Amino acid sequence: MSEPQSKDLQDMNDLVSLCKRRGFIFPSSEIYGGVGSCWDYGPLGAELKKNMKERWWSSMTNRTDVEGLDAAILMHPKTWEASGHVEGFVDPLVDCKTCKGRFRADQLEQTTCPKKPSKKTHECGGELTEPRNFNLMFKTFMGPVEDSSATVYLRPETAQGIFVNFLNVQQSMRQKIPFGIAQIGKAFRNEITPGNFIFRTREFEQMEMQFFVEPGSDEDWFEKWKELRMNWHLENGIRKEKLRFHEHGEGELAHYAKKAFDIEYELPFGWQECEGIHNRTDFDLSRHQEFSGKKIDYFDEKQKKRFVPYVIETSVGCDRSILVALADAYREEQDRIYLKLSPRLSPFKVGVFPLMKKPELMEYSMKVFKDLNSRLRCVFDDGGSIGKRYRRQDEIGTPYGVTIDYDTLTANTVTLRDRDTMEQERVNVENIKEVIEEKIANWKA
Ligand code: GAP
Repeated sequence: MSEPQSKDLQDMNDLVSLCKRRGFIFPSSEIYGGVGSCWDYGPLGAELKKNMKERWWSSMTNRTDVEGLDAAILMHPKTWEASGHVEGFVDPLVDCKTCKGRFRADQLEQTTCPKKPSKKTHECGGELTEPRNFNLMFKTFMGPVEDSSATVYLRPETAQGIFVNFLNVQQSMRQKIPFGIAQIGKAFRNEITPGNFIFRTREFEQMEMQFFVEPGSDEDWFEKWKELRMNWHLENGIRKEKLRFHEHGEGELAHYAKKAFDIEYELPFGWQECEGIHNRTDFDLSRHQEFSGKKIDYFDEKQKKRFVPYVIETSVGCDRSILVALADAYREEQDRIYLKLSPRLSPFKVGVFPLMKKPELMEYSMKVFKDLNSRLRCVFDDGGSIGKRYRRQDEIGTPYGVTIDYDTLTANTVTLRDRDTMEQERVNVENIKEVIEEKIANWKA
């Protein structure tokens, strides 16, 4: 049976509201009115995030040529001088002399304040100051003294933790080039124009991998990683027609990159970057060598030569991947909203429902739940009509439902319902685990 006609996500507010209502994502410190573009993951969001990270981590570290790492957020301040972030990680800002509003100069179309008049700002359209560079790194102090000698930064990317540990990892794991280091962790940017829900926030999580290669082989590796990374998004169940590559032009390239491609996804507010793949050359390792005074290179035993490796970086936001997965999965039909999430990502794989709250059905259902839950993350729901319970699970993306009724007690069969097609079939309770596992393995968007 084909799936009923459904509508995609048109308005981000629908997704924000579903996420709040169903325990995926809440505004941070909501009881105090929230705090600028920070979000908290609720019970279902935390589960989805864990699944997202697990998919990325295993796709990287199941390879014999990629090692994992978990470096500290706070790093020696010289790291950020070497990386170029102290000098170059800036946005040009202008201030309005009338309402004191602050704007990114490179995003303004006019030469006067763009704010509309309000009670506070009276008449805007005021005169703007000359642009000044504003560094996006959050600063704090280490130890009891709050002066410039104690300044440290919250890392704006996880990548630098990998670069400074290049030799530690290579030597301790006896890796040979080419090989990579993968890391998942928090990053912080004092973004001037955050927004669009979890798309651009000031605290977020990155999943980054630096692949160290011999200079000259970098362009081939760049192409390989581009393809591997696009496939990862497709394997998350994201529709192919909603994904594309975008090559950075000269003016767009980051200070460290020789070449860069974004993987973009079409959100309701347009095509947006989800992941960056960068050829960072030997920029970072050479700069750390220069600033630390320590030799950072690699000796190739076969060729009997030393070189500073080039780096191909793949960098994807975990929160942005979650936004893409949720936005892509969102479907509205006449009488239901459902999330067509890949079962590999969905917080729960199976909902278990006793048809009625009768002791014999409850007891049997609990047994089925316990058995299934030992292998697949399940949810038990005995509240309300069966139709309502199906709808509740549809809305949080639970792909399969198992209903226990009076026939179950006599014939040992249960009803297995499919979220996407709403088709139902009777399956012997003995086989239910294997049947669902096979469906999960073969699930396609
Ligand atoms: N190490 C390279 C690097 O950080 P980037 O293009 O600045 O490159 C990589 O960031 C990815 O991190 C982006 O594609 C995006 O998924 C995520 N990201 C960056 N800034 C973000 C923000 N303010 N909020 C959420 N995710 C962000």
